Amino acid sequence: METRHIPRSSFTRAIVILQIILVVFVILSVASLHHFFHVGYFLDANEENCQKFQTMSNGYADYDLTALHDRVEEALARISDIQNKLQSSLKNKRSIAVKNITHTELRIFLEEQVMQPLYSVHVALTLVRIPKPDAVEAPLINFFTVEETRKYITGKGNKDGKLSVYGTNRTYNTIGHACVLMRKELEEYMDYDMGSYCKDDWNLAQKLMLGGCDPLPRRRCLAPASNLYQKPLPINMSLWTMPDDRNVRWSNYKCRDFKCLSSRSPRRSFSKCIGCFEFEKEKLRWVSNVSLADFLIADVLAVKPGEIRIGLDVSVGTGSFAARMREWNVTIVSTSLNLGAPFSETIALRGLIPLYVTLNQRLPFFDNTMDLIHSSVFLDGWIDLQLLDFILFDWDRVLRPGGLLWLDKFFCSRKDLDDYIYMFLQFRYKKHKWVISFKSKDEVYLSALLEKPPRSL
Ligand SMILES: *[C@@H]1O[C@H](CO)[C@@H](O)[C@H](O)[C@H]1NC(C)=O
Ligand SMILES: *[C@@H]1O[C@H](CO)[C@@H](O)[C@H](O)[C@H]1NC(C)=O
Ligand SMILES: *[C@@H]1O[C@H](CO)[C@@H](O)[C@H](O)[C@H]1NC(C)=O
Ligand SMILES: *[C@@H]1O[C@H](CO)[C@@H](O)[C@H](O)[C@H]1NC(C)=O
Ligand SMILES: *[C@@H]1O[C@H](CO)[C@@H](O)[C@H](O)[C@H]1NC(C)=O
Repeated sequence: METRHIPRSSFTRAIVILQIILVVFVILSVASLHHFFHVGYFLDANEENCQKFQTMSNGYADYDLTALHDRVEEALARISDIQNKLQSSLKNKRSIAVKNITHTELRIFLEEQVMQPLYSVHVALTLVRIPKPDAVEAPLINFFTVEETRKYITGKGNKDGKLSVYGTNRTYNTIGHACVLMRKELEEYMDYDMGSYCKDDWNLAQKLMLGGCDPLPRRRCLAPASNLYQKPLPINMSLWTMPDDRNVRWSNYKCRDFKCLSSRSPRRSFSKCIGCFEFEKEKLRWVSNVSLADFLIADVLAVKPGEIRIGLDVSVGTGSFAARMREWNVTIVSTSLNLGAPFSETIALRGLIPLYVTLNQRLPFFDNTMDLIHSSVFLDGWIDLQLLDFILFDWDRVLRPGGLLWLDKFFCSRKDLDDYIYMFLQFRYKKHKWVISFKSKDEVYLSALLEKPPRSL
């Protein structure tokens, strides 16, 4: 069916039908706006009417006139763009004595040239109806110039003026205050076509997050996905099978497929967790003895048989720890950032949960909820002691009494070891395992299995 050819005349007919649809669409859109606003505004846009419209106090005062104007202009521009495209395709088809066009080609053409732009016109017009939030002092609102950022951070009152389920009468979208340090990048990030496709700029987003602009504002555009997305493997295969290359957007990496991410490849552009994309090696971790500092999952779980069910893995990696723990019926959420490789997608394609968070924020878990926190290849000797202190207190908050903190080969220079040891021991956790071993002449590994004590007031 995909390769069946459509004769030229059908193509022409399709284009003509499309144009008719377009015209109907325009009429409907304008009619709905017209109905929505003021009878006569579009038909009879004389000055008096405009003035009346602008000064009207009941009903319409909340609507954003500038936005209306912009959106209508934008919508008209887009519609005329589609029109032009349709006409030029029609011309091309005639002049180049076209051969046949396949169903797939027609589908792609319709999808890319017609449906997407049409959809964004639709969204743009719909958005006109979204009332302008009443001006409430929003911190930093005048620092930013791009309208979308300003809209985002303005507090939004509840529609009915009553308290929401949260018991508040207003919702504040927040952005990390360090966004002000990266204003240029943030404005670039927030400058997009509302309702249409976002740029493939996840790396700009990640750069902002890592620069402290975290939480990052939400956007009203559609994140692009890989063109050739394949359905994921069933869970009994996905855990240890390298995912399909086609399911990842590679455009912002040096590599273009998973094979290229192997430790032997010179093109891989990440320095932590070098062997992570070789599942044969990953399969051996935590289940076979390599060194004293490598604890086995079996030994760790034996400390609290049956009690460890949910946990958090704070690491750079592809989710192998979570994959192993799943086999033990333990659910692990893995923190992930795409630092030079598609770590988040890989974890998700394996059928595990990637939590896309930085170290900037308090963990999104309630107090005393997790059975286990595991950390490897991430928090290491580079970290500032005071930052580590805040992080460890947060981990302590999240761990339940009797929960386990598994430090997996934390490494640092020998001279710093005492400071770090103090950090870990200040909570007076019960020591189940504690191993210090040499990594190199000047560096040491610390592995520990610690249990949070009961804590009642
Ligand atoms: C279009 O395809 C059909 C069937 O594949 C073929 O019979 C016909 O000659 C083709 N027409 C042109 C203009 O190539
Ligand atoms: C929201 O609640 C605060 C007090 O909780 C009150 O001062 C304020 O007027 C309320 N705002 C609205 C729009 O109801
Ligand atoms: C995986 O599970 C599916 C059904 O869910 C089954 O058909 C398939 O044989 C299983 N594959 C393996 C390798 O166990
Ligand atoms: C791993 O090493 C520990 C002690 O070093 C030992 O008790 C344990 O049996 C070893 N496990 C395996 C699977 O070799
Ligand atoms: C995990 O749960 C399944 C189903 O409840 C059970 O058959 C299996 O033995 C469990 N595995 C482990 C390691 O406990």
